Amino acid sequence: MIQLFHVTKIYQDSDAPALSDVSLSVEKSEFVFLTGPSGAGKTTLLRLLYGADVCTRGQILMAGRNLQNASRDVVTQVRRDVGVVFQDFKLIATRTVFDNVGLALEVRGLRRVEVETRVKAVLNEVGLIHRAHAMPRRLSGGEQQRVALARALVSNPRILICDEPTGNLDHALSLEVMGILEKAAMRGAAVVCATHDEGLLRQHKHRVLALDRGRLVSDRRGAFDRAADLVSG
Ligand SMILES: Nc1ncnc2c1ncn2[C@@H]1O[C@H](COP(=O)(O)OP(=O)(O)OP(=O)(O)O)[C@@H](O)[C@H]1O
Ligand SMILES: [Mg+2]
Repeated sequence: MIQLFHVTKIYQDSDAPALSDVSLSVEKSEFVFLTGPSGAGKTTLLRLLYGADVCTRGQILMAGRNLQNASRDVVTQVRRDVGVVFQDFKLIATRTVFDNVGLALEVRGLRRVEVETRVKAVLNEVGLIHRAHAMPRRLSGGEQQRVALARALVSNPRILICDEPTGNLDHALSLEVMGILEKAAMRGAAVVCATHDEGLLRQHKHRVLALDRGRLVSDRRGAFDRAADLVSG
């Protein structure tokens, strides 16, 4: 579902690459953590995946579509396949929680009743239905983070990209959010979750990709993946 071939990203006015010769692939229904110290290149990599930026060298395929030299149309198509939870949420300040989540469906031309049903279902899932008519600035950091998650999930994306989605949450809410992301993977989404929370990595035995100064320094298969390998022989 996600394929990177020798991807290098060098920002303008910077000599050290933010990503250096990174190759990897993530399959449908796979849950992958992306980790590494601050400045390692996690956000840079995620931004390339949803076409917010382009790589300097290499190729990126998202659900079979090549993002290198892609037209606006192709980037738009890719974005429709990808749900994103940004490190800083990026909620629209002038819209309610409900509208923030529903917008992705409205631009797809869904009917009002269908938008309403799906937004309510996903707000229920993240435990925020009682805040549906609140404005984002009236919410706590953790609540805003869950609105961002609801917005990413509402369109049932084939690929889910999350940048520190538990960064502002206490332990109990982190577990809940992880459960929601894992459910999305079980329903078939490829999920990439950037985190430097060691506790999270220890508790949830998924595949872990580790970046260090832009290089992919390890790719550790998760315990569940190995169990699945044993079952499938
Ligand atoms: N827009 C930009 N212009 C120039 N350099 C950038 C830009 N964005 C990031 N960088 C640099 O690229 C490197 C990787 O940054 P990135 O934000 O991807 O790290 P990160 O792993 O997400 O860190 P954190 O854990 O703090 O979120 C850093 O050295 C950073 O300074
Ligand atoms: Mg980051």
